[in-house]
Amino acid sequence: MRILVTGATGQIGSELVLVLREKFGAENVVACGHKRPPSPKLASGPFLSLDVTDKTALERVVGEHKIEVIYHLAAILSAAGEKNPGLAWKVNMEGLYNVLEVSRVLGVKKVFWPSSIAVFGPKTPKENTPQETILSPTTMYGITKVAGELLCEYYYRRYGLDVRGLRFPGIISSETPPGGGTTDYAVEIFYHAVRGEPYTCFVRPDTVLPMMYMPDCLKATLNLMEADPAKLRYRIYNVTGISFSAEELAREIQKRVPGFKVEYKPDFRQAIADSWPRTIDDRAAREDWGWKPDYDLPRMVEDMLCALKKKREKGEF
Ligand code: SER
Repeated sequence: MRILVTGATGQIGSELVLVLREKFGAENVVACGHKRPPSPKLASGPFLSLDVTDKTALERVVGEHKIEVIYHLAAILSAAGEKNPGLAWKVNMEGLYNVLEVSRVLGVKKVFWPSSIAVFGPKTPKENTPQETILSPTTMYGITKVAGELLCEYYYRRYGLDVRGLRFPGIISSETPPGGGTTDYAVEIFYHAVRGEPYTCFVRPDTVLPMMYMPDCLKATLNLMEADPAKLRYRIYNVTGISFSAEELAREIQKRVPGFKVEYKPDFRQAIADSWPRTIDDRAAREDWGWKPDYDLPRMVEDMLCALKKKREKGEF
């Protein structure tokens, strides 16, 4: 299996590449990044600099490396997208269009593309948000994710391209920090706790959002990609891990880091958070391909603190 991962230097990509290399052989997984330099860990296999908005360059890479499966992770996230809506449109829409089109022309067998809880908006039910519901987002990021879902469905229906995706909640991880997302506070807070510094959170304490720990994110991605196609009722599935408020997260950390102080100064990201669901109904994923997360809040917090303390001891931050 020859695999290409775009956005490989990002939060999910930097860990997904390593898992895929473990499973399919390092030389078979081509990692591509654009802005950030690759981490030393990504040097375990091929790494290329690639801008996904450059269709000719993408076509060359897919052709030359005989790529059969693409994990297309390169994107501009929600908060960064509100600062530069034009860039979010360009990277997210042109990038996805190029990946789908190159896949169709060169016969790529499968494509994975992450959607997001950002497809939902203020009119969507906030609790147990259903798989099929109102998709009426108010952010440019959300708009690109809804249009992206429709585009993936179009390529499946019209050309039979096997595109699969997940509406990820906020992803929490210790390896690579996310950049430019609304759910970034749920990662930043851990770095401050481990450094022994207070944290100023950019959403209100009662803000509840759906989240997922990275091992569950990787498991969901691999399980969906391995699922029997006959069982898939949807191209893009709701998935969730754990929903909690910013204050509940802070308290769970404080149990393990006594004296850790958090204050709350909501900024423009509060409105984005308020437009998203609090909890997600992911029964379709559970029924169709056996989705089940492993991490609850205490287990995730325990694991995050342990991983970041080790990185801190090694002087990595
Ligand atoms: N975590 C992402 C963001 O906050 C949601 O997809 O933008």
